[in-house]
Amino acid sequence: MSVIERLIKPHLIKVQTYNPVDPPELLAEKAGIPTDKIIKLNGNENPKEPSGRIKQAVASAAFNIYPDPLQRKVRKSLAKYTNMAPEYIIAGAGSDELIDLLFRLFISPGDKILDFEPTFAMYGFCARIAGGSVSMAPRNNNFDIDIDAAKDLIDEKTKIIFLSSPNNPTGNMATRHQIEDLLQTGLLVVVDEAYFEFCQKTVADMISQYENLVVLRTMSKWAGLAGLRIGYGIMCPQLVNHIIDVKSPYNLSITSEAALIAALEETDSLMIEVKKIVAERERMFNLLNEINGIELFASDGNFILCEFNDGMVGHVYEGLANRGIFVRRFDSPRLANHFRISIGTPDQTDQLISAIKELV
Ligand SMILES: Cc1ncc(COP(=O)(O)O)c(C=O)c1O
Repeated sequence: MSVIERLIKPHLIKVQTYNPVDPPELLAEKAGIPTDKIIKLNGNENPKEPSGRIKQAVASAAFNIYPDPLQRKVRKSLAKYTNMAPEYIIAGAGSDELIDLLFRLFISPGDKILDFEPTFAMYGFCARIAGGSVSMAPRNNNFDIDIDAAKDLIDEKTKIIFLSSPNNPTGNMATRHQIEDLLQTGLLVVVDEAYFEFCQKTVADMISQYENLVVLRTMSKWAGLAGLRIGYGIMCPQLVNHIIDVKSPYNLSITSEAALIAALEETDSLMIEVKKIVAERERMFNLLNEINGIELFASDGNFILCEFNDGMVGHVYEGLANRGIFVRRFDSPRLANHFRISIGTPDQTDQLISAIKELV
């Protein structure tokens, strides 16, 4: 037995890790084409690069100096954007980091989270790392959640309920009523609104009423800052303070701070792009709908989940990849015949559609 194996936490020796998307250069190498020719529709990223002003803000950030551990300017700027007081807000290196911090605070080995499969894989991943386990509540044929079935899975070890709304990768939303029902359990309910700007529906207004509600958001999707890793959470001030106590002090970099503040100064122009993405999502939906052998799921996010007739999905996925078009497949048995397509530019949609038509 190696030193590492002897000393590492036993449950982490062979952990099932997160299955991330590859960077553009690697995808380009796989397809044998230049990086600028690939069509990357596998990460729910924004096809538009940040504006010159955001880039300028990043370039002129004083990154020889550590950032503010209490994120004062960032939280003030987010407070204005969200209409919540700064005490209710905390930012992280992506909402991924905030998910991880919630595990740090609430989940000891042996504890459980409740998750609605299929959903964003990060919740299950963080549970495994924390030595916790996941109770998977079922979704129906349309991927809607079943509150009664979920409640049946709760026991004294269950601490957190994670609910992505709109759900990645299925695109559908939970209702306010369902979320209220879950809040009544008294567990921590994390509503992940990573795609909020694409649907404009939120439960953040319920935070003053429920101290067990956490709303997570991100700058990765609507604001096009995925590479800078900036997310934030809205929750009761007591929980914000606990997160501040356990987070690494300088978790948000100076460049991320600068980008976030600059982006929130141009929300109007960012929202114009969001509206274009939503319109493009509808156009892509209609075009895909005309192709035989594909079932589509209506989406409130910047992506569409597609189900292919038996045996086709692998062929289409590989065929697209060989043409330099990358979409997202999943490990979940429920999604064996599916892939998710992120919304890109109209030109990318056109190339995708003609490639799928050739392949099916
Ligand atoms: C539902 C959901 N939550 C969180 C994230 C992660 O966002 P971030 O880039 O802020 O870590 C994603 C990214 O795909 C997501 O789909």
